[in-house]
Amino acid sequence: MREQVPPAKTSNRRSKHYFNLDASLLPGVFVSFFLSLCLIFAICFLDYKTITTGFLRMHGQTLEITELKFNATEVVPESQSLVNGSEPDFNRTDIVAESNKAEAENETEDAKKKVEFLEEGGGECNIFEGNWIWDENYPLYQSENCPFADEGFRCTENGRPDRNYTKWRWQPKDCNLPRFDAKMMLEKLRNRRVVFVGDSLGRNQWESFLCMLSSVVANKSSIYEVNGNPITKHQGYLIFKFRDFNCTIEYYRAPFLVVQGHPPAGAPANVRMTLKLDHMAWTSSHWKDADIIVFNSGHWWNHGKTIRAGCYFEETGKVEMNMTVETAFRKSIETVVSWISREVDLRKTLVFFRSYAPVHYSGGDWNSGGGCHLQTLPELGDMQYEPSLEATMTTDVFMKLVKKSRLQNSVKLLNVTEITSRRKDGHASIYLSKVWSPINRQDCSHWCLPGVPDTWNELLYALFLRHELPSSAQSTEITICC
Ligand SMILES: *[C@@H]1O[C@H](CO)[C@@H](O)[C@H](O)[C@H]1NC(C)=O
Ligand SMILES: *[C@@H]1O[C@H](CO)[C@@H](O)[C@H](O)[C@H]1NC(C)=O
Ligand SMILES: *[C@@H]1O[C@H](CO)[C@@H](O)[C@H](O)[C@H]1NC(C)=O
Ligand SMILES: *[C@@H]1O[C@H](CO)[C@@H](O)[C@H](O)[C@H]1NC(C)=O
Ligand SMILES: *[C@@H]1O[C@H](CO)[C@@H](O)[C@H](O)[C@H]1NC(C)=O
Ligand SMILES: *[C@@H]1O[C@H](CO)[C@@H](O)[C@H](O)[C@H]1NC(C)=O
Ligand SMILES: *[C@@H]1O[C@H](CO)[C@@H](O)[C@H](O)[C@H]1NC(C)=O
Ligand SMILES: *[C@@H]1O[C@H](CO)[C@@H](O)[C@H](O)[C@H]1NC(C)=O
Ligand SMILES: *[C@@H]1O[C@H](CO)[C@@H](O)[C@H](O)[C@H]1NC(C)=O
Repeated sequence: MREQVPPAKTSNRRSKHYFNLDASLLPGVFVSFFLSLCLIFAICFLDYKTITTGFLRMHGQTLEITELKFNATEVVPESQSLVNGSEPDFNRTDIVAESNKAEAENETEDAKKKVEFLEEGGGECNIFEGNWIWDENYPLYQSENCPFADEGFRCTENGRPDRNYTKWRWQPKDCNLPRFDAKMMLEKLRNRRVVFVGDSLGRNQWESFLCMLSSVVANKSSIYEVNGNPITKHQGYLIFKFRDFNCTIEYYRAPFLVVQGHPPAGAPANVRMTLKLDHMAWTSSHWKDADIIVFNSGHWWNHGKTIRAGCYFEETGKVEMNMTVETAFRKSIETVVSWISREVDLRKTLVFFRSYAPVHYSGGDWNSGGGCHLQTLPELGDMQYEPSLEATMTTDVFMKLVKKSRLQNSVKLLNVTEITSRRKDGHASIYLSKVWSPINRQDCSHWCLPGVPDTWNELLYALFLRHELPSSAQSTEITICC
């Protein structure tokens, strides 16, 4: 089923700079010869920083986002132009990848000196500060072997010509992350529940997590949706059980986290829907006893998806016609935070809030021809990152309220915004389906799998294991206070 996306336009920041990779087609023999030369040149003579910063630049982001269209056939009119996968810019990709490899090797020397995040002293490390490093051991799985990813995330199967986007590992500056061990994680999750709540980016992350865990389960039929719903159907929620571990990995769709419903009686005629800012989404009773809850929010909190679409804000049964989106968002997060301190047993449940995942539309918005399908490289050098208003709002509001409620030791920020902003190469773009490629309606919001959401989950994994350590367990005692 297709998600309702009002054709909104709220972006206040446009891409000013678009690093446009020209499609190039070179005869194979010449390519290999040229590549070898480039590689040798890159490794031996060029300083890595010079190469990358020379032609990588951060560009701004647009704020608009299109939700994933889960049923391909419904979405794109046949008249819409189709493209074949454009060739990646081989020479540049390889120079940078190889230079990065050189740095990665350098890193390995370095890495020996770095503290392990899970070892003593590692807890001080900010794992969200670092770089993307080329790593031949990635990806952690192949989408072909994962029955749990939506078609719209299966970029390689849908014809994306390069797999380079699957080969980047996140390397924190001051420590090393544990390598994801699906067997160990499944053992840790035995008899437990992991719940993802939020919008379709949350679904993207949830499917990544299913793929990561299921990669070590030989009998895929031992993993099933408990209500028999197929993953392709866009239900309000889906609960996958790993039979042999009695563990469930669940997704609840709640893009606003609070209730969206009919307006109260007597509301003005232009009010088609309201967000009931003081009520948690209806499914919240199902989440509260989970062992891990991963929230995300933000992509729907803009003028276009609320007020312009006739969806106003309601508080204590009254529609507040003049309330701004920012105020309403803050109130929704107040509701979430007070729900956590009231309803969730924080001695049992570990709560994460994943920060905003930036979108990367260039040359237009999601609905006006913006794209990202020529992007084949992450931002590798030093980068000045300017978060979008939505990204800033999401994290700031959440952090402030969590601090105020004294939950900061129990509720963890999965601070992926800046990390993710460097991965304009990781989006599904035009590779949404085997049969069509909408060049004018690209998806530069959601992510290919395997890909960037795997890293969010590796960070989640690291923080979870750290939390499970006996020493850190003590420091997570909560004081709900005075
Ligand atoms: C997609 O939509 C078409 C036509 O509306 C329908 O026949 C098909 O079953 C749908 N597929 C999925 C996976 O929902
Ligand atoms: C795409 O490729 C197919 C076959 O490889 C070809 O028939 C078709 O003309 C191409 N379309 C475009 C727009 O280049
Ligand atoms: C990469 O190849 C293209 C096409 O052959 C060429 O125009 C471009 O200058 C090359 N870039 C570099 C950095 O060598
Ligand atoms: C390797 O590390 C050294 C010292 O940290 C640094 O000077 C050098 O530029 C690095 N080399 C590469 C290729 O990054
Ligand atoms: C999130 O991570 C970035 C990059 O390390 C950092 O600059 C920012 O301050 C962090 N935000 C919070 C709220 O911790
Ligand atoms: C990047 O992808 C292209 C296309 O698949 C491939 O030819 C090239 O070797 C890749 N680069 C590296 C460093 O693997
Ligand atoms: C399976 O896990 C659930 C919690 O997710 C627990 O309540 C139940 O007791 C477990 N069943 C067995 C047989 O251990
Ligand atoms: C795989 O799991 C299914 C469902 O639980 C079960 O019916 C089947 O016997 C299992 N197959 C093997 C080879 O264990
Ligand atoms: C909303 O704003 C309008 C114009 O600024 C004002 O006339 C009206 O009284 C306000 N309504 C409420 C309920 O504050």
